[in-house]
Amino acid sequence: MNITVSKKKLKDIDGDLYVIPVASGSEDGGAVRELGAEDRALVSSRIDATGYKAGVGKTLGVQSPRGDILLVGTGEDRTAETFRRAGAKAVAACAAVRVSRLVISAGSGSVAKKHFGAVLEGYLLGAYRFDKYKAKKDDHYEGPKSIVIAGTSLTPGSATKAVIDRTRKICGAVCMARDLINETSKVKTPNYLVKTAKRIAREENLKCEVWQGQRLVKEKMNGIIAVSAGSEEPGALIKLIYKPKTKARAKVALVGKGITFDSGGLSLKPSKSMEWMKQDMSGAAAVLGCMQAIAAVGPAVEVHAYVAAAENMPGGKAQKPGDIIEYRNGTTAEVLNTDAEGRLVLADALCLASELKPDAIIDLATLTGACMVALGSRVAGIMGTDQTLVNALISKGEDVGEALWQLPLVEEYNSDIRSMNADIQNIGGGYGGTITAALFLQRFVGDNAWAHLDIAGPAFAEKPVPYAARGGTGFGVRTLLTYLESL
Ligand code: BES
Ligand code: MN
Ligand code: ZN
Repeated sequence: MNITVSKKKLKDIDGDLYVIPVASGSEDGGAVRELGAEDRALVSSRIDATGYKAGVGKTLGVQSPRGDILLVGTGEDRTAETFRRAGAKAVAACAAVRVSRLVISAGSGSVAKKHFGAVLEGYLLGAYRFDKYKAKKDDHYEGPKSIVIAGTSLTPGSATKAVIDRTRKICGAVCMARDLINETSKVKTPNYLVKTAKRIAREENLKCEVWQGQRLVKEKMNGIIAVSAGSEEPGALIKLIYKPKTKARAKVALVGKGITFDSGGLSLKPSKSMEWMKQDMSGAAAVLGCMQAIAAVGPAVEVHAYVAAAENMPGGKAQKPGDIIEYRNGTTAEVLNTDAEGRLVLADALCLASELKPDAIIDLATLTGACMVALGSRVAGIMGTDQTLVNALISKGEDVGEALWQLPLVEEYNSDIRSMNADIQNIGGGYGGTITAALFLQRFVGDNAWAHLDIAGPAFAEKPVPYAARGGTGFGVRTLLTYLESL
């Protein structure tokens, strides 16, 4: 697919479909005025006939001999997010008439300069489908052959091309993360994550280290070992390292939960709760996605990424409630519920991240159903020991359309995870489950600046959301990259 920008007026660009974001109150103004006289008349009469108002996401299709026109309402505030959502509206319109040459306006005036990348991002993310297991591919449409992003304020050239390349690379990484999440657990074993990490390292020139088998024993990765015990699939600790070309301004550690299937283990989940547990490696997917685009984005910081990979199954050798894990940092944890396995494997990776003494540790995990009860399916919970880090992540998340909401790390709730037989236990008392899970993790981060993102809600869309089809969303990839770039 060829993607270019053009500063020509819409009437001077050839296309099969013109997608035009319009603000409420100026339905036939803005970029609509760049259409030829005939098309403008057609648009005006459709607006008159339908009483169309450009509320957020409201569309109006107009057929014209030159090429179909789709107005997309952006409402009043014209943020990057409204342009992302407008870009995504082009997807269905393209598929409906199998458009070959798509033209998307990035709006009229200076707004185009600011948001043409967002328009493209919305389109590319919105066009993602996971159809590798669909037998019926005969009505398959590959998408347009070319996309022109139009805006009279745009200046085609190297800077503009850089924005397009960066957007394509990042969206490719988000879609790779989605593929990983949507892949079946039959295929997507911990070793599949290992192979994926090695492929990324090869393609992006990163350092990669993998611990499996006896090496896990030697390095005291006892959480990964305990959770993997009930599975035929061996666990793994994966590490990827990115070093900037110039001197690193800081060192950041990323940690992802990579449970490739969460049956609950002996504390078996009921069937309904297990339906989508292939998604329990979404934290790992976010971290791997970030590493796939990191060299292209090129932040001036060193990034050490860790994935704790395991399958949580109730096999004959499975860990049992009451078992105690001794961690690499000396902390002991009593496993009262084998379904609270995420924190058990993350603890291993957090020990390693802490030993680096980085400037920040950020972990992402589909950790608790309680976080979905608290914040629903569109907002991730964030907790941490460093308010500057937490604030920065919330703010970068907002920039890219990934909502994070802070929950408190209530010191007093530590009493909920006090264990009778070990230092801590892996479940709390029932209330505040997202917070007690985070307090468990905190035991493994030392005094490092740390933020924990509980992405149980937004990692997986059970119904479609703006610019993401049902399934894995790749939540976190864009927040991480934008944050790292800002350092
Ligand atoms: N992977 C789940 C959390 C989860 C639930 C993610 C729903 C996405 C959607 C996690 O391992 C888990 O099972 N958590 C338990 C913790 C409990 C046993 C303390 C939960 O949330 O019920
Ligand atoms: Mn679980
Ligand atoms: Zn889990």
